[in-house]
Amino acid sequence: MAKPISIEVWNPSGKYRVVSTKSMPGTRWINLLTANDCRLEICTEKKTILSVDDILALIGDRCDGVIGQLTEEWGEVLFSALKRAGGTAFSNMAVGYNNVDVEAANRNAIAVGNTPGVLTETTAELAAALSVAAARRIVEADQFMRAGLYDGWLPHLFVGNLLKGQTVGVIGAGRIGSAYARMMIEGFKMNLIYYDLYQSTRLEKFVTAYGQFLKANGEQPVTWKRAATMEDVLREADVISLHPVLDKTTYHLINPERLAIMKKEAVLVNASRGPVIDEVALVEHLKANPMFRVGLDVFEDEPYMKPGLADMKNAVVVPHIASASKWTREGMATLAALNVLGKIKGYPVWGNPNMVEPFLKEDATPPAACPSIVNAKQLGLPSSKL
Ligand SMILES: NC(=O)c1ccc[n+]([C@@H]2O[C@H](COP(=O)([O-])OP(=O)(O)OC[C@H]3O[C@@H](n4cnc5c(N)ncnc54)[C@H](O)[C@@H]3O)[C@@H](O)[C@H]2O)c1
Repeated sequence: MAKPISIEVWNPSGKYRVVSTKSMPGTRWINLLTANDCRLEICTEKKTILSVDDILALIGDRCDGVIGQLTEEWGEVLFSALKRAGGTAFSNMAVGYNNVDVEAANRNAIAVGNTPGVLTETTAELAAALSVAAARRIVEADQFMRAGLYDGWLPHLFVGNLLKGQTVGVIGAGRIGSAYARMMIEGFKMNLIYYDLYQSTRLEKFVTAYGQFLKANGEQPVTWKRAATMEDVLREADVISLHPVLDKTTYHLINPERLAIMKKEAVLVNASRGPVIDEVALVEHLKANPMFRVGLDVFEDEPYMKPGLADMKNAVVVPHIASASKWTREGMATLAALNVLGKIKGYPVWGNPNMVEPFLKEDATPPAACPSIVNAKQLGLPSSKL
């Protein structure tokens, strides 16, 4: 018999059974579920990544909805089990949902929620931090200092790249990519080159207006360019940050051929999803080009790094923490809980998933809607008129 999974129970007499596969930050999401007649069961198992069998055990014979994590494989096995248990709702606590087989959810009539609108700035800030850390060799310098190796100022000590006046390249100029671009342009007065399947008119207008402002102040104006190909970005940019969704078109988007056309002293940042970069090829490139630097928040085989990456001084690596600000993580938990609660209650789907502020007001009752359901159309769910 399978080992029982340890859980913490809130509001044991609640009518609807909701499971969260992890404890999440804040208490508002718990209060919202329990105040709305949910019995909430939070998995307290020590292991970081739950297996499909663990989650099957959590779903059990009766379950109305599940809040899950991006480390879990949500496919036919889990969605059919949730359906058999009477469930209709699942929400990822993430904006990306490449761990979810949405077709399988559709087949089982399970709504799939995600949490956009609260990660944008936090994730962009981490990408900006990685850009600066890599360009200015901050982690290397920190390690040197702590090792007691500093014995006085030297002209060559940890010389890195100046960002001002250089070109920032953004691949995937959606919500996060655009926010990151603005930070680098406003913060460091970098010029922009971007590649996306769609034109980012708002971003272009912003750079034009900011350039005019700088010019009026007697400063060098910033410029923008929408590249016709991704290769143009890779060839021209000094700092390149990757922000596309992960799908078939972006898997190994950075491969040996594309690494080869980048500047030898370029900085490459990835806070999207690990498999967007061919990490084995990246390690080889880092070895061959010591002045090429990377800042990585995500990895191809998370939680592992490809052999050799950890030894590279020209790599800054952090453990998938791009959305890890208190405000964002509490907001993600609230949105994920409200996606599940809203579907259980039969609420419509919120009209604009990027405008989620009404759901986040601490002391106010949230709108009677699901904040963001990615397969609302396929399931024919009504849209909120609020
Ligand atoms: N590291 C983290 O903790 C973290 C946090 C949040 C989001 N993310 C990742 O960031 C991704 C982007 O989030 P977002 O909110 O900005 O999404 P978004 O949908 O607003 O933006 C994604 C952009 O990528 C573009 N795109 C898609 N395919 C492309 C291709 N082949 N080439 C170039 N551009 C392409 C889209 O047109 C879109 O503009 C998420 O899907 C998620 O995987 C990671």
